[in-house]
This record gives sequence, structure tokens and C-alpha cells, in this order.
Amino acid sequence: MRARHFVKLVHEGPISTLTLDREDKLNALDAQVMGELLDAIKETREHRESRVLIVTGAGKKAFVAGADIASMKDLRLEQAREFAHAGHTTFNALESLPIPVIAAVNGFALGGGCELALACDFIYASDNAKFGQPEVKLGVIPGFGGTQRLARRVGIARARELIYTGAVIDAVEAQRIGLANRVVPQAELLDVVRGVATTITQMGSLAIAEAKRVLRDGEGRSLREANALEIDGFAGCFETEDQKEGMAAFLQKRAPAFKAE
Ligand code: COA
Repeated sequence: MRARHFVKLVHEGPISTLTLDREDKLNALDAQVMGELLDAIKETREHRESRVLIVTGAGKKAFVAGADIASMKDLRLEQAREFAHAGHTTFNALESLPIPVIAAVNGFALGGGCELALACDFIYASDNAKFGQPEVKLGVIPGFGGTQRLARRVGIARARELIYTGAVIDAVEAQRIGLANRVVPQAELLDVVRGVATTITQMGSLAIAEAKRVLRDGEGRSLREANALEIDGFAGCFETEDQKEGMAAFLQKRAPAFKAE
């Protein structure tokens, strides 16, 4: 793995925190940052203790202000395709981590930044956060999954409106349309997100991974097909020690001691 300069990854027990750290450019994503991000995602996947990943941005102003416009401006068709592919590869890797990923959006989440947040399981936003897909203002469209993930998150009509107008919305509006789950004062954002992450770490991690897989794989399928995935996932849990422990603990009125087995 290459040395990382713009992506910090810290493991604290079961909670890992990934920080995009290129503050002078509002944490904008160029090819180098994208490569480092993919490395950090792979490291998280291999770090067996990680149970939740928090993704956030350095500084008080931006989560990620987008793909790096300076590095994109002279791209030709094939290079642009490669750049978009790199973005998709990285965000798909994030989305398919077997642990929950929470975006702690601490400021601007525009373009690629909004797409990064959308590749996370859910979003908590600080009160100063701003969201948008303003690519059309630059003569392009979202290229890192924004057209598809935004539509799936907030509905196609709202996605169309945001993408066609390039509107930038505040955290309260983002929550109102279902883009952000919760809005909290900026100074409290990471503590609140760590609190939710801690709650998740106390659950059966195999069950969480299975729930994540079924929720993700069910998207875009018919209800009947998606429910069939749920039946298999539910049944599969009964082959785990965690299921036996969880139910025994409930009946014995004690806290469960899950072992991810
Ligand atoms: N790509 C490259 N550089 C970016 C960037 C991006 N997406 N977003 C911000 N930066 C850089 C600015 O060029 C500036 O660099 P400089 O100091 O070397 O000139 C630095 O980050 C600070 O940004 P600045 O624009 O001065 O801050 P601001 O507070 O005036 O405005 C924003 C903040 C987010 C409104 C503004 O930076 C912006 O509109 N960024 C682009 C958003 C966008 O279109 N994203 C989608 C890209 S596909």
C-alpha cells in the first residue's frame, strides 16, 4: 500500500475513522486522493476488529467539495472515463464493506463529496453542512454514482431537480428530503456519530453484515426477489453462535456476549 498523505485512517477499538484531509482544497478528490481512499477502504476491510467506519472531512468547512476541478479540466474522453471508473471502483468498495459506514458530513458535500456521502450507509450532518450535485454548472454530470444513488436515496423527482438545477441545499433541507438522517451542531457531530457507532458495535456483527448485504442486494430487485434474499439471510443467521447467544441472553435476562461466530 502506498503512503497516504490526504486520507487518514484511525482505528480505535471497533470504530475506525477515515478523514479526507486536504483542507486547503476543501478535501477535493483528485486521482491521488481517490487512490489513497481506496487503500484506506481496503485496510479497513482487512482490519478484523473494525465494526463501524466513520467517514468525515478535515477542518470545519468541508466534508468534500467535490472531484478536483483543476485536475479534471483538461481530461479527454478516455481519461474522463478512467477517472469516473476509478471513482466508481472506490465508492463501490466503500459501499460493499461488510460493516456499516456512517458519513459525518461536517461542511460542504458537493459533487463527488455528496456522492461519497451517498456511498455510505447513512448520513449525519452538521448544522453548517451543504449538499448538492452542481456538476451541470461545470458542463458535466455526476460521474461517481450521483445520478443513481441520489435517485435511490431521495426519489427520482427530487434527484432530477437537484441535478438539473445544481442547487445547493442546507442540512435541514437535506434531512427533510431524506438525504441526511440527522442534523446536529457541528461541535457535537463526531461525538454523536461515535455514539451511534458504539450502539452498532454492541449488536451481533454477523447479523449487521447480513442485514447490510440483504438491504444492498435487494435494492433494484422486485419485492418478491428481495424478500427471498431476506428469507435466506434470516435463516442463515441460525447457523451462527451469535444467534444462539443473543436469544439465550435475552431469555436469561443478561447482556449478550457476541463473538462474531
Ligand atoms: N476542486 C478543486 N479545487 C477546489 C474544489 C474542487 N471541487 N473546491 C474547492 N477548491 C479549492 C478552491 O479552488 C480554493 O483553492 P485556492 O485557495 O488554491 O484558490 C480552495 O479550495 C478554497 O475554496 P474557495 O472556493 O476559495 O472557498 P469558498 O469558501 O469561497 O467556496 C465552495 C466554497 C465549496 C462554495 C467553492 O469552493 C466551490 O464551489 N467549489 C466547487 C464545488 C463544485 O462544483 N463541486 C463539484 C465538482 S464536480
